[in-house]
Amino acid sequence: MTHSTKTELFKVITERHSVKQYKKNHQMPQEHLEQLLQATTLAPSSWNLQQWKFLVIEDQTYKEKLLPIAYGQKQIIESSVVIAVLGDTQANLNIEPIFGPLVEAGLLPQSVKDTLASQIEGAYQNSQVAHDEAIRNSSLAAMQLMLAAKEMGYDTCPMGGFDKNRFVQEFNIPERYIPNMLISVGLAEIPARASARLPLDQVVVTNTF
Ligand SMILES: Cc1cc2nc3c(=O)[nH]c(=O)nc-3n(C[C@H](O)[C@H](O)[C@H](O)COP(=O)(O)O)c2cc1C
Repeated sequence: MTHSTKTELFKVITERHSVKQYKKNHQMPQEHLEQLLQATTLAPSSWNLQQWKFLVIEDQTYKEKLLPIAYGQKQIIESSVVIAVLGDTQANLNIEPIFGPLVEAGLLPQSVKDTLASQIEGAYQNSQVAHDEAIRNSSLAAMQLMLAAKEMGYDTCPMGGFDKNRFVQEFNIPERYIPNMLISVGLAEIPARASARLPLDQVVVTNTF
């Protein structure tokens, strides 16, 4: 017996595809943008350190500046907004603002916070760990953003095709953050091109290889 897949979430998952052509000159209301970003930040993250930062590019001048950096991909200038999802390689600096208030509110014992903090600081000594956690966790936020956008009636396209070094330089990205992907968000003008998926028996292995 299979579970019903008629829930809203499954509908959203099934219908989300990468839309490349958007209704031009549509401005996303600020409250939609806020709702979208709020939902995005509910994504899970390692130690709940929320290793992400979102650069919201909505001004047409900045989109034009981004266009050549993203190799001329038109969704950059035609969508309502482009959100650059950045990974935070120094998310250990979030320990205090995230865990401090929980301790103060009596929701987390100080001793547990201290143990977590020492684990985290230990792990973040390793720059490879810091890098991997930044990409891993900001990618979860990116996926959440795309599904939340779809639920809200918007479409998206994730983009890894952009010159990361140039983006860092021209958008003054602080060294702490690494660009993960750009996501265009807007109202679809033309539906996404069909995309295929490999069958489960080619992508699933049970118990061990
Ligand atoms: C990390 C990542 C990078 C991608 N980069 C680009 C890109 O630069 N340009 C583009 O048009 N699509 C890009 N895509 C979209 C994929 O081509 C698309 O997700 C895939 O073909 C499956 O199609 P669907 O999203 O419509 O289901 C990217 C997707 C991901 C997840």
